[in-house]
Amino acid sequence: MDKILLLNGPNLNLLGQRQPEIYGSETLDDVVASCTALGVELGLDVHARQSNHEGVLVDWIQEARGVAVGIIINPAALSHTSVSILDALNVFEGPVMEVHISNIHKRERFRHHSYVSGRADGVIAGFGTDGYGFALRRIKTLLA
Ligand code: DQA
Repeated sequence: MDKILLLNGPNLNLLGQRQPEIYGSETLDDVVASCTALGVELGLDVHARQSNHEGVLVDWIQEARGVAVGIIINPAALSHTSVSILDALNVFEGPVMEVHISNIHKRERFRHHSYVSGRADGVIAGFGTDGYGFALRRIKTLLA
């Protein structure tokens, strides 16, 4: 089965506890469980990882080369600051989907720009945690 890397950045380990009025009540485990189940339906093997550390995320993106066929990433706050995550994604060959649970364009100005969007094949923002499933379906379409 084709492998998909599902990456979540800083503070997303606190999903469900963290500002639920913005990010909802689902936990990261809930998100991973529903993406894994959808992956089985779509014939995709979803591997989920979360880190609060930029360099760790860069390492995982590099390791995905030649192993995963696509990446779904919510870089969280690093979206707005990290050239190193953009550079790592630029070396990855397959489709990249960027997900934001909240609509970053409706929030503070500093959230409006994402470095990762310059590489992403699709950007989903403001659909809550449903955005992860949409991203997975889109990757399936792009791979077909
Ligand atoms: C986020 C939006 C970012 O601005 C924020 O720093 C996050 C989560 C989202 O999913 O809406 O941590 O990426």
